[in-house]
Amino acid sequence: MSDSNLQSALSNPQNLGEMADADAVGTVGSPDCGDMVRMWLKYKDKDGKKVIDKASFQSFGCQTAIAVASLATELIRGKTKEEALLMSAEELSAPLGPLPPMKIHCGQMVEGALKAALEAEQGTSSAPMSAPTHLGPTLADSLNAAGKTAGKIKIVLQTS
Ligand code: FES
Repeated sequence: MSDSNLQSALSNPQNLGEMADADAVGTVGSPDCGDMVRMWLKYKDKDGKKVIDKASFQSFGCQTAIAVASLATELIRGKTKEEALLMSAEELSAPLGPLPPMKIHCGQMVEGALKAALEAEQGTSSAPMSAPTHLGPTLADSLNAAGKTAGKIKIVLQTS
């Protein structure tokens, strides 16, 4: 991982915080470390296409997740939902360089929160909170494998 890129992402995280007028929000928690990332998305129309106008995030605890989420909110701007859904954790964290093995799940958690928010937007604005059915496969698998009764796993999909 490049220290200078990580440092600048950490010392000046972009798009940090709740978005009051968001179109969608997705939250994913990690069974490995108990951290959580929540991501908000706002769309706009551009040349007849619906694209991501802006994104923001909150993350609790982990600096790598904060750095990747900060980069992700910048990288997905202007993309359609379909384009953003194709982005992998590796792509989202690419500016940081390869993540050390212990930190790979941090990027996957950001990818999961992004996908949760992208999927959540399919619902209506008044849709009730529902159990996630299609988070990123790696993360969903690991969450399922860990068992939801463990007590520290929390996944919430919401539509605003
Ligand atoms: Fe778990 Fe980074 S999100 S250590």
